[in-house]
Amino acid sequence: MNRGGATAGGPYLLTGATGFLGSHVMAGLLKKGEGVVVVGRRAGGESLAERIRRLLEWFGIEHLQERLELHEADFREPRLGLRPDEYELLRRRALPIIHCASDTRFAEKNREAVMAANVGSLAGILDLARGGPARCFHFISSAYAAGSDGAECREIPVHSRNFNNVYEESKALAESAVLAFCRQHGVAHTIIRPAIVYGDARTGRSLKFNALYHPVRSLLQLRDIYLADLGKNRGKKSAACGVRLLKDGRLHLPLRICIPNEGKINLVPVDYFTAATLAILDGPENGAIYHVASRRPAAMAQLTAFSARFLGLSGIEVIHGAAPAAETRNPPEELFDYFIRPYRPYISDRRVFLRENTDRATGAMDPPDFDYDVFRRCMEYAVAADWGRKLFSIPGGQGEKEGKRDKGVER
Ligand SMILES: NC(=O)c1ccc[n+]([C@@H]2O[C@H](COP(=O)([O-])OP(=O)(O)OC[C@H]3O[C@@H](n4cnc5c(N)ncnc54)[C@H](OP(=O)(O)O)[C@@H]3O)[C@@H](O)[C@H]2O)c1
Repeated sequence: MNRGGATAGGPYLLTGATGFLGSHVMAGLLKKGEGVVVVGRRAGGESLAERIRRLLEWFGIEHLQERLELHEADFREPRLGLRPDEYELLRRRALPIIHCASDTRFAEKNREAVMAANVGSLAGILDLARGGPARCFHFISSAYAAGSDGAECREIPVHSRNFNNVYEESKALAESAVLAFCRQHGVAHTIIRPAIVYGDARTGRSLKFNALYHPVRSLLQLRDIYLADLGKNRGKKSAACGVRLLKDGRLHLPLRICIPNEGKINLVPVDYFTAATLAILDGPENGAIYHVASRRPAAMAQLTAFSARFLGLSGIEVIHGAAPAAETRNPPEELFDYFIRPYRPYISDRRVFLRENTDRATGAMDPPDFDYDVFRRCMEYAVAADWGRKLFSIPGGQGEKEGKRDKGVER
């Protein structure tokens, strides 16, 4: 399909292939028979080739490596740190580009690095897109680039100047820069804006354990602190805040999670993100913005109930409205609040992401319902992967059958 000057089909030039979403896009394209030209960096003493090889193993697609071409780059350098002839050759090949690399940290203390990675390094990547007729520049942005102004977010350029953190702000600035460049140079383009992406809904597998995983892991840490206290210290700390073991084996942990309103958490699994993105790449509409988001976002109360069931906890409540006075909060509440602070804007969100363009591109494909079975699979995988620390040492690749892994933590 070819709409409004945007051409489908690869090979594709991809950035961010060593990350969570980029690696899934890479694997999805390779499985479809497309070629992928990866521009990425070495890290932790490992070359780009070694990092990609490990990811191919994780996906169980080592046999597809001949469809890959790798270019080790440094996005902070002019021409992405590539040799002048290498950069020029890439530019002349007129490949469609998927720019997925991004510094995804939220904290203000990282402002300089986030802005440099997400906005400053754009020039070198965009310049690769100047010229040839086959090019389309696909920018992976974020639904949250919409900012914090309005409740109804349409698939249109960002107008907000109010953002929850530097990451959102940088994605909005990057979108504007991409749009301005592509319009000026006549480059066909799309912007793909995912909501919060978690693991594969069918297998539970994931490469990243932030966002959805963070509150669950925080509750698990709290549970383990108090279980240790009940074991070794005869429950001195526990007694002070009403924590006790119940006869059915669950831990009673009185903890109020205070959120300002009933809002929602917009979650999509990575298998859905990948399928939707591949559908968009198949029929890109020049200039279109796509919200890859859920029509039926989850509520914090549901996520809390799933977490309590998975972790064998009771006593956790979600309260809407003003936070209780500091002096009435117990230590687990203080700690939990501290753990989840960066994610607060996303757990009681009133924003609704309209998705007309995405529906048209994907045949109105919906993400699966976020039910307890999906949640359990994802959390079992997270525990088996030790929240990312043992990611590449879990036995079995993508082909590993469900149920063969160690049992999760459900008590
Ligand atoms: N995950 C989500 O829930 C979500 C939701 C909405 C939008 N998004 C967007 O989706 C894209 C991918 O996100 P992700 O979750 O996959 O992030 P990720 O796992 O953190 O991966 C980020 C990728 O960007 C690369 N990168 C970061 N800083 C870089 C720099 N300074 N120079 C070169 N490469 C750099 C990383 O390379 P290294 O591996 O070398 O660090 C990695 O390949 C981003 O554009 C993000 O804004 C993600």
